[in-house]
Formats: sequence, structure tokens, C-alpha cells
Amino acid sequence: MTAREPVVTVALDPERASGALVDDVRRGLGSQPRSLSPTWLYDDVGSELFDEITRLPEYYPTERERAILRDHAADIVRACDATTVVELGSGTSDKTRTLLDAFTALGSVERFVPVDVSEQTLRDAAARLSERYPSLQVEALVGDFTLHLGHLPRGGRRLVAFLGGTIGNFYVEERAAFLGALHDSLEPGDWFLLGTDLVKSADRLIAAYDDSRGVTAAFVTNCLHVLNRELGADFDIDAFSYIPFWDPRQERMDLRLRADMPQRVTIPGAGLEFDLAHGEEIRVEISTKFRLESLRDELAAAGFAVERTWTDDADDFALTLAQRIP
Ligand code: SAH
Ligand code: AVI
Repeated sequence: MTAREPVVTVALDPERASGALVDDVRRGLGSQPRSLSPTWLYDDVGSELFDEITRLPEYYPTERERAILRDHAADIVRACDATTVVELGSGTSDKTRTLLDAFTALGSVERFVPVDVSEQTLRDAAARLSERYPSLQVEALVGDFTLHLGHLPRGGRRLVAFLGGTIGNFYVEERAAFLGALHDSLEPGDWFLLGTDLVKSADRLIAAYDDSRGVTAAFVTNCLHVLNRELGADFDIDAFSYIPFWDPRQERMDLRLRADMPQRVTIPGAGLEFDLAHGEEIRVEISTKFRLESLRDELAAAGFAVERTWTDDADDFALTLAQRIP
């Protein structure tokens, strides 16, 4: 069978440097404590650095989730037999192939809809997937999963996969808003497959987010390059240190950049100017780690009933299959 061309729809404003993301810069960097949306991490360079992170020996989540998918993809297909599989924050969709292999071999899937803000990474992934799965219509959506869930295709039995633990990058109130919006964009009976990293020892977590080769530091620092390029900012990037730490109360990794010397920063694209004091920090990303009982409660509060949860041998990572209830 010859591969069908992937269809790519762009919901995102082609100028990333406008709209909601810029409002977010104004709000996040213009107030105390200063913060930034992790979405700014994923330009082409950031997406490549993340891909490199997934192959670091210290960064266990990718391999753990891959193992769960390898062991249970057939169970997932049997449970939901979706005709459309959507993947939010799909990146390279590398691990997702394990799932799509099972769906195409055992199920009646017709369509795969990867959704990501990182346009080139998404286009490349869509082309590779079309080649690999000639029977599948690949309909990629360049979009923001906090804004564009309304653009997901309707009809059939749908499974929305949100893998990698990316839900952990939301703050708690953003997570509730996201789950609510996802519930509203699905029909009763549609499925949600959620990957979550689990609480574990601080040592292992810190190693995973402060790798010896400095790839994670480069990944987090990349957001300043993106702001300098896309919003004309003038961050003195060499004058920042990467500060990752485990917050045991909130049970999340907290990834920050600290100014090693005072600097005045102007961001013309966001109409922002501010002084960073020596030692002042910008929180770039959090990565929340979950407990299965509270995750089940959160899903229930958003209108999802958990059908099955699978973990890897070491209970490092979990994959939860839930169904939208009416
Ligand atoms: N799912 C993959 C990639 C995780 S990295 C895995 O499990 O390995 C997070 C991905 O989410 C990146 O590809 C990034 O570009 C994408 N992303 C980040 N913020 C986003 C947003 N607001 N909307 C859509 N995609 C987003
Ligand atoms: C995409 N997300 C789940 C990653 C994480 O582990 O929170 C992003 C990341 N940040 C630093 N390393 C990896």
C-alpha cells in the first residue's frame, strides 16, 4: 500500500511571538516570583535537546513508559479499540509507534492526530508515520493543547494520549483547567491515556533533571535564546546558572535560572523592561510527580473514570487509561 500524504493543519498563530504566549511572558516575567511558560522551551533546538534528554542514562521516564507501552499496548487496544488516536504534545511520536503498531495490527484504527507546538518536529514526525503506517490517515495539528482542543476531529471512537509525563509540567490549577477542557472537547465514552511520572527518591529525581553532560541545563536555558530571538529580548544568557531542585511539599521538580549578576532586561516584543537582581531566579518549568490515588481523584473530579492503571517493574512511571463519563 502506498503511503498517504499527511494532512497538516496549523491552528497556532504563525507568529509565535503574539497572542497568548506573549501575554504569558508579560504576566510571568513581569511579576514576582518571575516565571515563564515551558512552551517557550520547544523551538527546533529545544525539541532536539529534549530528544537528547530522552536518551540520557539518568532520565528514566522515557524508557519506563516505553516498557509499559511494550507490555500493555495490546490491552489498551482491546479496552478501547479506538478508530481515531490523538496524541497531545506528541514531539517525535517515537514511543507512540509501540502503541500504533498494536492499534494497526489488532484494532480498527483509521486516523492518527499528533498535536504539537513545535511545527518542524511535528511535520517530520507526521511524514515518518505516514510512511510507516500506509493504512493510517495522519492528520497533524500544529497547535497549543491549552488552547486548541476544540480543533480535534470529531466522530468515531477516540483515544487521546498524553504521554511522557507532560501533564506534570502544568501548575495544579492549569492541570484542572486542562482536564476540564479535555473533558468538554470529548464525547461520553471517549478514552484518555495519560502518562505520569511517580514520586520517588529525591536523589534519582535530581539526577534525572541535572544530568552530568549538562543537556538539561542547555534545554532549560534555551528559553532565553528563544525570547532573545523571537521577542527581541536582551538576556545576557552566559550570566545565568541552572538551578534544579526537588520541592518535597509540592512533590515536584522546580527548574529555575538564576542571574549570576544584576542585569536590566528589555523585551520589546512583550513591551517589558525589568531589573534582575544578583541571585534572582526565573522559574522556567515544574515537573510534578504523582501518586496514583490522588491522580484517580483528580481524574474523577474532571469527569474521567479510571479503567486500568499500569506501572513498570520499578513503579517509576504509570500509564492510566480512563474514560470520559457523561
Ligand atoms: N510526548 C513526547 C514528547 C514530550 S516533550 C514524549 O513523551 O517523549 C513535550 C512536548 O510537548 C514537546 O514536543 C513540546 O513541543 C510539546 N508542547 C509543549 N507545550 C505545548 C503546548 N502548550 N501545546 C502543544 N504542545 C506542547
Ligand atoms: C516534557 N516533560 C515531561 C519533561 C519533564 O520531565 O518534565 C520536560 C523536561 N524538562 C527537563 N527535563 C525534561
